[in-house]
Amino acid sequence: MTILQTTNVSKQYKMGEVTVNALNQVDLSIETGEFVAIMGPSGSGKSTLLHLLGGLDQPTEGEIALDGQALSDLSDKKVTLIRRRNIGFIFQFYNLVPTLSAEENVALPLLIDGQRPRDYQERVEHLLSLVGLAERRKHKPDQLSGGEQQRVAIARALVTEPAIVLADEPTGNLDSRAGEGILTLLRRLCDEMKQSIVMVTHAPKDAGYADRVVFLKDGKIVDEMRLEDGRDATDILTRLTELEL
Ligand SMILES: Nc1ncnc2c1ncn2[C@@H]1O[C@H](COP(=O)(O)OP(=O)(O)OP(=O)(O)O)[C@@H](O)[C@H]1O
Ligand SMILES: [Mg+2]
Repeated sequence: MTILQTTNVSKQYKMGEVTVNALNQVDLSIETGEFVAIMGPSGSGKSTLLHLLGGLDQPTEGEIALDGQALSDLSDKKVTLIRRRNIGFIFQFYNLVPTLSAEENVALPLLIDGQRPRDYQERVEHLLSLVGLAERRKHKPDQLSGGEQQRVAIARALVTEPAIVLADEPTGNLDSRAGEGILTLLRRLCDEMKQSIVMVTHAPKDAGYADRVVFLKDGKIVDEMRLEDGRDATDILTRLTELEL
C-alpha cells in the first residue's frame, strides 16, 4: 500500500525578480512500512521535498496524497490537523522546547491536540523507554547530550502514532557514534513497528540503513536504488560518484 505519493510535483520560490526552481516534476511513492533515504547535493531540493511531503508548504504544481487523500482538496485547517496527527517530524537541530522536561516535550503534540495527561502518560513513558531514556525523563534539553536530545525528538515524533515519520538530516549535528544510535533506532522502528520513514541525509553510511535511496539533483529525481539485496553504503557512494552528486 502507498502511504505517501507525489505526482508531478514542482516548487518554485519567487524572490522579487528571481525564481528558484527548487523541485521539478517529482514523482515519488512511499510504501507503508518502507524506509526511504533522500540524497543529493546542497540546494538540490531535499528539504523542500520533505516540507511538501509533510504539508508544511504547498507545491506550485502537482499533487501530494497522504493515504490516498489529496492534500490540496483539504482546507488549511484540515491539513494542519492531519499533519499534527499523522506526520512525525524530526529535524537536524532537535527543536525541543528548552523549558520543558524530556517527558513534557514528548507529550507536547498530544497536549496541543487537547488530550488529557492521564490518557497519554503511559504511552509517553513507553516511548521514552523505547528510545532508552526512561532514566532521563525529568531532564531538560540542556541537561541532555545531543544524541539524547535527538532521541527525545524521535519519541515526540512517534507519540501520535503517525502514518509516516519525516526526518531532515537527523544525524547532521551528532558524532558518528550517536548518529549510529539514531539510525539503528529508526531501522528498528521500521522493522518492528512497520513505521514508514522518509529521511534526508548527506551520509552514504546513514542512507545504508534505508530500504531504498532516492537521488535528487537540481530538483529532479535522477536515480533510485534498492538496498534489499545486500547493497550498502559503499554501493551508495559509488552511485553518488557515477551520478556526479
Ligand atoms: N523559503 C525559500 N525561499 C526561497 N528559496 C528557497 C527557500 N527554501 C529553499 N530555497 C531554495 O530552493 C533550493 C532548494 O533548497 P532546499 O533547502 O530544499 O535544499 P536542500 O537539498 O535541502 O539543501 P541542503 O542540503 O543544503 O539542506 C535552494 O536553491 C534554495 O536556495
Ligand atoms: Mg536541507
